[in-house]
Amino acid sequence: MASNSSTHMFVLIGIMVTFMVTTCNGSFFQDFDLTWGDNRAKIFNGGQLLSLSLDKVSGSGFKSKNEYLFGRIDMQLKLVAGNSAGTVTAYYLSSQGPTHDEIDFEFLGNTTGDPYILHTNIFTQGKGNREQQFYLWFDPTKNFHTYSIIWKPQHIIFLVDNTPIRVFKNVESIGVPFPKNQPMRIYSSLWNADDWATRGGLVKTDWSKAPFTAYYRNFKATQFSSKSFSTSNSDSEWQINELDAYGRRRLRWVQKYFMIYNYCNDLKRFPQGVPVECNH
Ligand SMILES: *[C@@H]1O[C@H](CO)[C@@H](O)[C@H](O)[C@H]1NC(C)=O
Repeated sequence: MASNSSTHMFVLIGIMVTFMVTTCNGSFFQDFDLTWGDNRAKIFNGGQLLSLSLDKVSGSGFKSKNEYLFGRIDMQLKLVAGNSAGTVTAYYLSSQGPTHDEIDFEFLGNTTGDPYILHTNIFTQGKGNREQQFYLWFDPTKNFHTYSIIWKPQHIIFLVDNTPIRVFKNVESIGVPFPKNQPMRIYSSLWNADDWATRGGLVKTDWSKAPFTAYYRNFKATQFSSKSFSTSNSDSEWQINELDAYGRRRLRWVQKYFMIYNYCNDLKRFPQGVPVECNH
């Protein structure tokens, strides 16, 4: 009996250890480099928390050590609280060079109590101009929330707390380049953009409130091997192309109640007609 229960115990411990190994998501020390802003960028809590700050002299930033070609990237952010007007927290994936690809989240700060804008964009082959902007359905400065990018050969999905807010489909078939050959790194920076960020630049950064600080935790990257796209392994999660019914409903909800700008509806900007991907 005794040896039987201790065997069970070892099995249990074994399971727990395995579980921890597969769910611990490294540390910021291991996965990221602080790239600018001197000591304004910090990693602490043993690598579990990262902060960026901005003062009158400088902002700060970091980038991932690894490059990714397709995957799901999750990060929790808690944005600059209080009067964050004029500040921008950019969090994005990007490759390098003049024909780079880029997938952007940018958080535009606001005066206390006024809503942040979540600005998104997608660059393919060096060309962007695909902005969509949203209000959030919560105060992003009170708690951490998860911002994710799912990047597959078929589409790019932006998610906030697992709710899809934007889908960019691969429509190479009608001549729109899609990011699929250039690996990207993860970047983030906190900087001053008071010439445009808040109410189009009307509200300036209040430097008496500096330093401004944003926090990051629970980074997780799941790489999809290119093999899983070409094989006929149909039960692989990454083979699923479209959102399920619930995801589509959530996306419509966000687009209906929280989207405040969509380049696809901006006929003033595109008098000759909106870009072709807008009709697909
Ligand atoms: C800031 O608040 C104003 C007033 O509510 C709003 O019009 C604007 O969209 C908000 N966000 C930014 C980033 O300007």
